[in-house]
Amino acid sequence: MVATPGAQGGEQGWSSRMAFILAAVGAAVGLGNIWRFPTLVGENGGGAFVLFYLGCVLLIGMPLMLSEFVVGRAGKSDAVQSASRVAERSGVSRRWRVFGGIEILAGFLILSFYSVVAGWVIYYVWLSGGDFLSNALAGEPFRGAFPDIGQDAVSGMMGALFESPVRLILVHAAFMAVTVWIVASGVHDGIEKAATWLMPAFFALLVCITIYGAFTGDFGRALAFLFTPDFSKLTPPVMNEALGQAFFSLSLGAGGLITYGAYVAKDVNLAPTAATISLTDTAVALVAGLMIFPIVLGVGLDPSAGPALIFQSLPVAFQTMPAGSLIGLLFFILIFFAALTSSISLLEGPTAWAIDRFGLRRPVAAMLLGLLAFLIGVACALGYNVWADVRPLGFWGIFAETDILDTLDGFTGKIMLPLAGLLLAIFVGWKADRRLIEAESGLSGGAFALWRFVVAWLCPAAVSLILLFGLFPGLL
Ligand code: PHE
Repeated sequence: MVATPGAQGGEQGWSSRMAFILAAVGAAVGLGNIWRFPTLVGENGGGAFVLFYLGCVLLIGMPLMLSEFVVGRAGKSDAVQSASRVAERSGVSRRWRVFGGIEILAGFLILSFYSVVAGWVIYYVWLSGGDFLSNALAGEPFRGAFPDIGQDAVSGMMGALFESPVRLILVHAAFMAVTVWIVASGVHDGIEKAATWLMPAFFALLVCITIYGAFTGDFGRALAFLFTPDFSKLTPPVMNEALGQAFFSLSLGAGGLITYGAYVAKDVNLAPTAATISLTDTAVALVAGLMIFPIVLGVGLDPSAGPALIFQSLPVAFQTMPAGSLIGLLFFILIFFAALTSSISLLEGPTAWAIDRFGLRRPVAAMLLGLLAFLIGVACALGYNVWADVRPLGFWGIFAETDILDTLDGFTGKIMLPLAGLLLAIFVGWKADRRLIEAESGLSGGAFALWRFVVAWLCPAAVSLILLFGLFPGLL
């Protein structure tokens, strides 16, 4: 008999609504909030980007998150089979399951490069852990970070890591191994346990470091930077970027949410839960901006440093700040926790599918998929050194300049996630049986009509317009 995650979910589903919320918030809050969002805001001119992003979350992200949960809980299986079952029960072609397939593939590809970046985080936990320890042993635990080396050496640490394929691959392997171990341990004993421990710790650290930054850094300039809108920067490619970021940050279109939805008990009201999760994720992205920019601006560093912001600029800032060594360590631990609860959701989608499709045992499925994703990640890591000149989609204008990791990131984020979301919106908005959807959504009357209208009209229109003009800016 083929084991289904549904069957496993029966004994292994979330033990409470809170456990589900923590796991889903854990999936949503990750590198996207703390590494990608501040980077994008910094590069794309601040407030206008933030506003457009908020619009994407409220009008497209939140309604689609509910759609994912609805499909998952109605189908009670992995993303492909859940979609297939809902299609069947709605009397439409089972081919609609294709969006489930795109989602799982997207999640799997994201996992491969996500783990590489999370590996950098492990490296920095290691470095700043050693630094804090040596300061503490010297009797000065509240010193600045890396007191004995110059500023160039600190900002050069990232370059040193990137030059070394061995280091990059080792930390990537370590992160993937932890991810596989948690997913292999099961929904209840692995994923849920991890989320219920790591997420509260994450929030405590977030609050502490933000308060610290507000007092020691330049909070006023950070506020101005984050919220002063410059609408001239809001070009179609930037809008595409913002929409892609909303998908990425909310974990939409990547299989994880449908799969997590399948483990939710019948009595949980999905609509308010989806709203809670989307809003929490968005709040964390904004707070992460308010945690990072006061520190970066406070020591006069460039807020638009791009992906190096966290790994290059911040350690330099921590050098001169009070207790910088301790705060630096806590900061990287915080990112590590956030990344881990996301990566387990990225692996859970494909794992549930493999369990279902091939009847594999959970640990075997998790290990095989983790290994495959690890290998793709190795190519990403090599893209920083031996394969630095490789441009996988170099023939395509928008990817002409991007290395292996950025290409995978851009292709999944800008194309696969929105595409899956577009199909999901059409499916839930037009094809799926109205009564089935209504019963699962927890909405009724006007609220249900409004949600379905948004999913049926606004989401497909907005997503396809943004996709079209973002990918082919020449069309405008
Ligand atoms: N949402 C996660 C983040 O912001 C990344 C992610 C994307 C996780 C897609 C699951 C699915 O880091």
